[in-house]
Amino acid sequence: MTELLKVQGLNKAYGGVKATDDLHLSLDQGELHAVIGPNGAGKTTLISQLCGNVMPDSGTVHFAGRDITTLGEHQRPHLGMSRTYQITSLIRTMSVLDNLQLAVQVRAGHSFKFWTNARTRRSQREKASIFAAQVGLEEKLNSRVDNLAHGEQRRLEVAMALAGDAQLLLLDEPLAGLGAQEAQQMISLLKSLKGQQTMLLIEHDMDAVFSLADRISVLVYGHIIATGRPEEIRANADVQQAYLGEG
Ligand SMILES: Nc1ncnc2c1ncn2[C@@H]1O[C@H](COP(=O)(O)OP(=O)(O)OP(=O)(O)O)[C@@H](O)[C@H]1O
Ligand SMILES: [Mg+2]
Repeated sequence: MTELLKVQGLNKAYGGVKATDDLHLSLDQGELHAVIGPNGAGKTTLISQLCGNVMPDSGTVHFAGRDITTLGEHQRPHLGMSRTYQITSLIRTMSVLDNLQLAVQVRAGHSFKFWTNARTRRSQREKASIFAAQVGLEEKLNSRVDNLAHGEQRRLEVAMALAGDAQLLLLDEPLAGLGAQEAQQMISLLKSLKGQQTMLLIEHDMDAVFSLADRISVLVYGHIIATGRPEEIRANADVQQAYLGEG
């Protein structure tokens, strides 16, 4: 297994609160790795450091063998690291297809070209519609983003990351706020990406986590107390005491 992400000895304090405390984490290529932990354990802070939104006090982050610890937030998506919970990156007044075409263009390096020839444009639109189909939005190609249901917008976000050639999807609570049916659609989508796409999943829905994850890491007070396959985590006494036992 090739290692795609390696976090070593990461620390981040806010005043007296250690949001991240000597955190070590490693993700293999193609793995769906979930990070679970109680409220305030430091899950979002971890993702923020991975996407460069928050700088760690110490420790290192390696991505695809490269030390990206000090790299800024805007440089990381170009390497293939994509935080996907932000519906805000969608252009709400444009169609599904136009949004995806933009992502395909940016990936191809055509971001600021007004004049692309008709053939290039056609092939970009074809690619864009393939990404739409991958997330179950093939019927919504011409719908404006602001006319989509919430769950559809969430799935479009994932498609945008795929269209942008994300090598690692950082998913911070992708099921939060979704109805039962929409949540099921998102779970099916994540299942369909398993094996092809490396994903770091943060999610409070334990049924979803245990059915989706290849491995689970348990975060408590900023420190990972256990990493293992779902059945190992379920059986781990420390984990039961620290977290699962509560719910
Ligand atoms: N910008 C900040 N300023 C001060 N304290 C912060 C900041 N961000 C996070 N914290 C603190 O760091 C700790 C970890 O917060 P974080 O949001 O990462 O937890 P979380 O695991 O994502 O929680 P939740 O499950 O509620 O989303 C908490 O004690 C929080 O209050
Ligand atoms: Mg959080």
